[in-house]
Amino acid sequence: MSRKEDFFTHINGGYTCKGDYIILGGAILDGEAVADTHIKIPLKTLNRHGLIAGATGTGKTKTLQVFAEQLSLKGIPSLVMDVKGDLSGVARPGAENDFIRDRHAKINLPYTTLGFPVELLTISEQNGVRLRATVSEFGPVLFSRILDLNDTQAGIMSIIFKYCDDNKLGLIDLKDIRKVIQYLTGEGKEELEKEYGAVSPASAGVILRKIIELEQQGAERFFGEQSFEITDLMRRDSNGKGYINVMRLTDIQDKPKLFSTFMLSLLAEVYNTMPERGDQPKPELMIFIDEAHLIFSQASKVLLEQIETIVKLIRSKGVGVYFITQNPMDVPSPVLSQLGMKIQHALRAFTANDRKDIRLTSDNFPLSDFYNTEEALTSLGTGEALVTALNEKGIPTPLAAMMVRAPMSRMDVLSAEEIADVNGSSQLVTKYSRTIDPDSAAEMLERKIASAEARRSEDAARKVREKETAGRPRTTTRRRTATSPVVKVLTSATFIRGVMGILTRAMK
Ligand SMILES: Nc1ncnc2c1ncn2[C@@H]1O[C@H](COP(=O)(O)OP(=O)(O)O)[C@@H](O)[C@H]1O
Ligand SMILES: [Mg+2]
Repeated sequence: MSRKEDFFTHINGGYTCKGDYIILGGAILDGEAVADTHIKIPLKTLNRHGLIAGATGTGKTKTLQVFAEQLSLKGIPSLVMDVKGDLSGVARPGAENDFIRDRHAKINLPYTTLGFPVELLTISEQNGVRLRATVSEFGPVLFSRILDLNDTQAGIMSIIFKYCDDNKLGLIDLKDIRKVIQYLTGEGKEELEKEYGAVSPASAGVILRKIIELEQQGAERFFGEQSFEITDLMRRDSNGKGYINVMRLTDIQDKPKLFSTFMLSLLAEVYNTMPERGDQPKPELMIFIDEAHLIFSQASKVLLEQIETIVKLIRSKGVGVYFITQNPMDVPSPVLSQLGMKIQHALRAFTANDRKDIRLTSDNFPLSDFYNTEEALTSLGTGEALVTALNEKGIPTPLAAMMVRAPMSRMDVLSAEEIADVNGSSQLVTKYSRTIDPDSAAEMLERKIASAEARRSEDAARKVREKETAGRPRTTTRRRTATSPVVKVLTSATFIRGVMGILTRAMK
């Protein structure tokens, strides 16, 4: 057998699937695509997570686009973090050209253009489906970790949540939690100490400062109602295609803390909402985090541990998480070691450090008789990548250099009119466009303080009256009605989901 025939058998043997699969591209040998050596990825192991890495301009985002498209065709919805703003085009058909025709002829895959069912999600003021979460949904554990609190401060946070729980004070937005802390270190200090023990004003001060810091990154627009229901990410259109939910995050690049907060809360909410499934023939949802270095670069140690834990656990819920980043070393090794699929686009070898990274990266790939991994890493063309995935038995597939198929949808952004069009036909935009400010902690405490003040001035007035009427026979004694601090039981779905936090169960 010739080397090429050997290779053909090697790849086709290593990438066979009994169950359903998607094709990401065709294999390359000695710089040439070999027809009909299709890189088939079994749907069954997609929940084992993955990485798409490579230098700028090597094709990472297009690989993500191809991936999400192929999933959609299999009825698998996805959520993609569009940090650079170049993914909205997936809603409209692409344009066929010679480059694409040639590419598909080489790997021998048919090509058609197609637009996909898309929802545009936002956590800012951009048009689209607004994604929000309440402070209650975070729970004391996660909220403390996001604020990077130490154990003492986190303990105080638990007390605060417990107090709100006992007193039916809903924690919806950051204003609520701020107000509660202010109240419990001021007017409500005695009340708190009686029931729950003392809280140091210094620690409370630190917590308040950290909340304000988070607000300054623009987080307040992300906390609140209408809180997002995760099941809305898992929709299919009338033809059975999975929705590609494009999360537009263009304005978040300079706000890493907000990005990691948002990602963590989202993963936690997904984890908490979805039932345990065990191994399934295909995933329920796939999450792609483009420019993933942003969530890791400034995340605190506890936050990283939290991400690690969730990534580990979320698999059994049928959710695959894929990180897209320039350098695989951007991903902390405990996360990296959990990733079943690796798609590595070209790396550049400019500096000694680059060369070290290339060596380390190539050490993470299976050995191959057909490639010198280090050499391949620097010689891959645009839209080409080294790949290894997990086969249906969970064993790594052979290393292959892959020519990635071209996206069927547009490799560019949507125009403003097209965005308006997508939002106009969305079923979710109106559902989440309402800003609800329910009667929550801030309003309730304001009333409580106001009524305490009213009581005080009433008492003072009474004393004056009593003085004036002293000596005269009393005719009536008006009994003062106790003003209850809790005037209304919060009925928000959020509250029912449990103020004590979504993660206390999961994180033990
Ligand atoms: N699979 C592909 N098919 C066709 N063209 C591609 C493919 N991958 C990359 N390209 C070309 O390379 C350019 C850069 O790709 P992109 O995914 O934006 O790079 P990165 O995200 O790594 O910076 C694209 O605009 C496109 O022209
Ligand atoms: Mg990119």
